[in-house]
Amino acid sequence: MAEQLGDLSRTHTCGALRIDDVDRAVVLLGWVHRVRDLGGVLFIDVRDRSGITQVVFDRDDDALMAKAKRLRSEFVVGVEGRVRRRSEETVNQKIETGDVEVLVARLVILNEAKTPPFPIADDTPVSEDVRLKYRYLDLRRPRLQENLVLRHRVTTAIRRYFDTEGFLEIETPILTKSTPEGARDYLVPSRVHPGEFFALPQSPQLFKQILMVAGMDRYVQIVKCFRDEDLRADRQPEFTQVDVEMSFARPDTIFGLIEPLMVDVFRVAGLEIQTPFTRMPYAEAMATYGSDKPDLRCGMPIQDVGALFAESQFRVFRELVAGGGTVRAFVVPHAGGYSRSEVDGLVDQAKQLGATGLVWARRAEDGTITSSVMKAMGEAEVRAALDATGTANGGLLLIAAGEPEATSKLLGQMRLLIAKRDGLLKPDVFAFTWVVDFPMFEWDGDEKRWTAMHHPFTSPLDADFALLDGNPGQARAKAYDLVLNGSEIGGGSIRIHDADVQRRVFSLLNISDEEARLRFGFFLDALEYGTPPHGGIALGLDRIVALLTGEQSIREVIAFPKTATAVDLMSSAPSAVDARQLRELHLSIRS
Ligand code: AMO
Repeated sequence: MAEQLGDLSRTHTCGALRIDDVDRAVVLLGWVHRVRDLGGVLFIDVRDRSGITQVVFDRDDDALMAKAKRLRSEFVVGVEGRVRRRSEETVNQKIETGDVEVLVARLVILNEAKTPPFPIADDTPVSEDVRLKYRYLDLRRPRLQENLVLRHRVTTAIRRYFDTEGFLEIETPILTKSTPEGARDYLVPSRVHPGEFFALPQSPQLFKQILMVAGMDRYVQIVKCFRDEDLRADRQPEFTQVDVEMSFARPDTIFGLIEPLMVDVFRVAGLEIQTPFTRMPYAEAMATYGSDKPDLRCGMPIQDVGALFAESQFRVFRELVAGGGTVRAFVVPHAGGYSRSEVDGLVDQAKQLGATGLVWARRAEDGTITSSVMKAMGEAEVRAALDATGTANGGLLLIAAGEPEATSKLLGQMRLLIAKRDGLLKPDVFAFTWVVDFPMFEWDGDEKRWTAMHHPFTSPLDADFALLDGNPGQARAKAYDLVLNGSEIGGGSIRIHDADVQRRVFSLLNISDEEARLRFGFFLDALEYGTPPHGGIALGLDRIVALLTGEQSIREVIAFPKTATAVDLMSSAPSAVDARQLRELHLSIRS
């Protein structure tokens, strides 16, 4: 049976004792991490969140020894004893308390534990489902403990930073109305209003804008957001944003606020980063890296080489260029050592990604030129392409042709594939960039209508206001994403602060006046009462902490995450509810 804590009161945590503490009387409380029974002497490693201390039971005290022999992994114990220096041969350099041990005079077994389904004391790989079901045990392991400690230190630094900058942390409602951020809503039925539902916020977007109308000037909130969307390693159905809004802000104001914040946040993890971050228009990111979240750690920009092939002997390229298509290429400077079958493998991979083909040309270390289209194109033209693109000896040129966006996208994927394969994406290099000037709208071919690329509250660039009328597809927005190593870690915009412009944008998005009133009436009303120009951003806290810890998935930096199918394996949520609860909520389930 579990003993009570009684008069035991902790004097030190398990990571605290050092050589200076020798001879001190101490009380440690923690979990049995490891048991080593050497016959006459019994060693126990006692663990808490701060570390591990070795405690020793000596054979002289039979009753104490008998009790200690009952200890198993993960029992909870209290030990009272005296610190002593370890003998030279038993000093353990691997732990901070490794110079000392505690000779136990009293043992209290505060609780027993079943044998855990996986060892806590070592990092034996365990399936993620088992880890998530027994999350409380997984959280005892050093990896997750360190991640959550870092996460806490990051949020503390963020709060400190915004406080210094004069921001107020203001809570916005969780039971609210739908805000469009492009995902499905989680809905909560109302008991007192039959047939009506709250939506959990996909973001506090409208509330933070209304706080600007309310004169709050600078708002920040570390806030949970909820999105019912397809999940991936960097997406959870509930996740945390560092949500920010400022009155009288220009994009520059936001960049100037966020860059020093990122310096602070990275310093928490012992990392120095360079500011200012580069800025790249969306159109350039798409053309040069085939992505709106370019990974800038690996060079290899995509070049437009269409002009080189306008008169090509290679009919496919010549006709494509004549028909308005593009030819694009990138150089893999280090591909000198690739075997022929590796190069052919790249062509196969491009086809798997949906390409009709991938042309290659290369210069061996001795300058010899080879190409997959040597016959069709002729050596002179191949050489000219290698020269024009700066493909040196030992380099490989990969060329694709077709519709501009699809061609860059394909080459962008090939570029990342090669970078990953050849270890060019170093986890300790941090390449930030602001992607700016996003288009206002995207054409939804299925629904045959424009949709907002960021969200419908985003302002056009001053120069592009006029395009809203005739040419909305060309209009660019005052919207920006913060991108780090190919991951979108934040997104924001300067907002529309004029009710008329907001109505025009709704109408472009095919949202009728009636629907706009129904969904956003409160917000449109607020805009009419003296709304200052304003803008903001939301940073993805989970993604930032995952990048700081080098984790591949944000699940590793969230205490209680959901699986890729949006299930909490520990609590078995979601789950059915009983008939009475359904009745109270005026719901019935269709079989
Ligand atoms: P956005 O939708 O770009 O903008 O979200 C901001 C940032 O939140 C993170 N993020 C996610 N992280 C984990 N799981 C998810 N499902 C998920 N979805 C988004 C990303 C993203 O960059 N209201 C606007 C912000 C604004 O305009 O101020 C918004 O929510 O890192």
